Amino acid sequence: MASLFRLKPIAAEADRPHEHQLQRTLSWPHLVALGVGAIVGTGILTLIGVGADRAGPAVILSFIVAGAICACAALAYAEMATMIPASGSAYTYSYSVLGEVVAWVVGWSLLAEYTLVVATVAVGWSGYATGFLAGLGIHLPAALTHGPVMVGSAVTQWGVNVPAMIIVGVVAGLLIVGTRESATLNAVLVVVKLIALAVFVAVALPYFDPANLEPFAPFGFSKHLSGDGVERGVMAAAAIIFFAFYGFDAISTAAEEAKNPSRDLAIGIVGSMVACVVIYMLVAVTAVGALSYTRFADSPEPLALILREIGQPFTATVLAASAVIALPTVILAFLYGQSRIFFVMARDRMLPESLARVSRRGTPVRITIFTAGVVTFFAAFFPIDAIAALANAGTLTAFAAVGLCMLVMRRRAPEAVRPFRTPAAWLVGLGAIFGCLYLFISLPGQTQFLFGIWNLVGLGVYFAYSRRNVDKASA
Ligand code: ALA
Repeated sequence: MASLFRLKPIAAEADRPHEHQLQRTLSWPHLVALGVGAIVGTGILTLIGVGADRAGPAVILSFIVAGAICACAALAYAEMATMIPASGSAYTYSYSVLGEVVAWVVGWSLLAEYTLVVATVAVGWSGYATGFLAGLGIHLPAALTHGPVMVGSAVTQWGVNVPAMIIVGVVAGLLIVGTRESATLNAVLVVVKLIALAVFVAVALPYFDPANLEPFAPFGFSKHLSGDGVERGVMAAAAIIFFAFYGFDAISTAAEEAKNPSRDLAIGIVGSMVACVVIYMLVAVTAVGALSYTRFADSPEPLALILREIGQPFTATVLAASAVIALPTVILAFLYGQSRIFFVMARDRMLPESLARVSRRGTPVRITIFTAGVVTFFAAFFPIDAIAALANAGTLTAFAAVGLCMLVMRRRAPEAVRPFRTPAAWLVGLGAIFGCLYLFISLPGQTQFLFGIWNLVGLGVYFAYSRRNVDKASA
């Protein structure tokens, strides 16, 4: 029983076998770029449409709620990431603070999160890529541009999302070539993405019409089932829009590869989070003000559609091109984060240790290939709102755990060195824990059910394999 709650000592780097060490190649500009690269993506470019469908123009409020909760989680992350600058993020903090079985649930949730985020962004990329090609007169067969379309539990249209599969393969290849090259390329593409959003705001804001904001909150605030069987409300939208705000946690998974973790991680996490909240508010207000939300709610490329509808087709093509070029940065950051979580769990013997081996270039090749294979399956066959919601469930679990870790450490070791101290720690920590809980219960019922099953399977693996394997190693 005691072993369920055993804590992992924070290992000194020198104690680890050489083949399990990652190279320290990243400094803070790389980390901010990694953060913004991971945060700004399909959430603002595509899920803004799903959010508007769930909340109407009040999706602006959903952005505020989700952003505030994510900001609390980001602060808790910054404190934990600088106290325990080791790979594995929420999983590692939970193992060091809350005990093994909680760490397992968090790690298992992170595996789902990272895998499904990559799949969601690949599907979002496919939407913009298909629209961009159509703008050039190249029309791909519809059945090859999206997964099966479901109405209720019946498939009304079969399909396989080929562009999404291709982009996952390309990005996985980049990662295998090496972290440093990928992170530098990432920084360039982040700039492209930010310019595209700035151009969207500059071009569409003059079309702002207050009439588009009426009625402001047609589906009310809390989640409830509307007539067509979809769960709606400002909170239902916030639970989806939450997707747009995370990604800064991908930076903390790079802790073992940061040159100066204590300073650089805090700058990377907090800096990229604040920048993104500001950018999103501008984009969201511009989008719902420029065009009635009913006209872009179910588009696979809502921001490009808004630009076309207001008579700016050239800017729409530029925006789509930028999304096509730059969205892979999000895929890159999460595929990278995923392989590192896997790597750390395998190194702890929670998963088969042979997976943890890194290549001569310092990258974990096997895990990257395995992850890319699983992601490709989800990207090919699942609808974007369903996979995004499930990714959010995993993330919310991890964020709540990090808020808890921060508060427990404040009580357990108040004098410990904290290179970054969260201001108003109790307010922030409780805000992260209860905010994540509220968002979790605002997710679709089906998502909560599937996430429960995923964790039951996870606990099965833990008791049948991981726990014994860890016992054997520590005996
Ligand atoms: N925040 C990231 C995105 O919106 C996951 O794509």
